[in-house]
Amino acid sequence: MNETIRLLNSHQSIRNFTEQPVTQEQLQTIISAAQRASSSSNVQAYSVIHITDEDKRKQIAEWADNQAHISKSPVFLVWCADLYRLREAYSMHEDPGQAYLGTTENWIVATVDAALAAQNAAIAAESLGMGIVYIGAIRNRIEAVSELLGLPAYTSPLFGMCIGYPNQNPGQKPRLPQQAILHHNTYQTDGVVEQITDYDNTMMDYIMKRTGGKRSNGWSEDMRNKLKAPSRLDIKSYLNGQGLDKE
Ligand SMILES: Cc1cc2nc3c(=O)[nH]c(=O)nc-3n(C[C@H](O)[C@H](O)[C@H](O)COP(=O)(O)O)c2cc1C
Repeated sequence: MNETIRLLNSHQSIRNFTEQPVTQEQLQTIISAAQRASSSSNVQAYSVIHITDEDKRKQIAEWADNQAHISKSPVFLVWCADLYRLREAYSMHEDPGQAYLGTTENWIVATVDAALAAQNAAIAAESLGMGIVYIGAIRNRIEAVSELLGLPAYTSPLFGMCIGYPNQNPGQKPRLPQQAILHHNTYQTDGVVEQITDYDNTMMDYIMKRTGGKRSNGWSEDMRNKLKAPSRLDIKSYLNGQGLDKE
């Protein structure tokens, strides 16, 4: 065990923050750490938008299921996939011909780059004693968020991130048993149901305690509820309209 591993293992999402501000210098430190993340061919195909405008925050919070922490956290960031900059870089050179930007491969490159950078930012913030929560619900209204933030072609919002000093200690959420996610040489389908059943039992205990006995649902039930109806089916056409994930 070392400090870094202790820090990684202490993560819990924070949705309630103290008034203590995050300074400009701290934010710069967090973003510098984000920029040190590995990047596919060094394309750095992401951007992050720091939202300080209160009206924009309120509007995004409303679109994202009225999650109060979006307008109340000291810092709110929106992480975006960004191939626009690459198109500009490409066009700076003579006789460019066609740039193959909008492929599914490049969409994966951009989303992975953004996620790696964001997670570096999360760890950096947590190492400074702050807490974070990711906000995927900004994709409830992906097109509206995109317009609000003035995103150009070849970009897309991916998720938000609230950062600030924790005003709660909600308790760590258990994870799947390691053998469920770690395979050796070949994918192991044997035992998956047993692993899920184990995890269901762990999660039922956890949820029961966390909700004071009000709920006791297991993980598989949550996943079933999540997957029994499709969600955000407008994303595909939004991405295609932005020139992304097309071929
Ligand atoms: C991409 C992404 C999107 C998320 N979106 C939301 C969100 O909109 N609202 C929220 O409260 N938590 C959100 N979360 C947080 C997850 O619910 C949380 O990480 C998960 O339940 C595990 O809990 P833990 O982070 O406390 O360990 C998101 C997490 C990720 C990685």
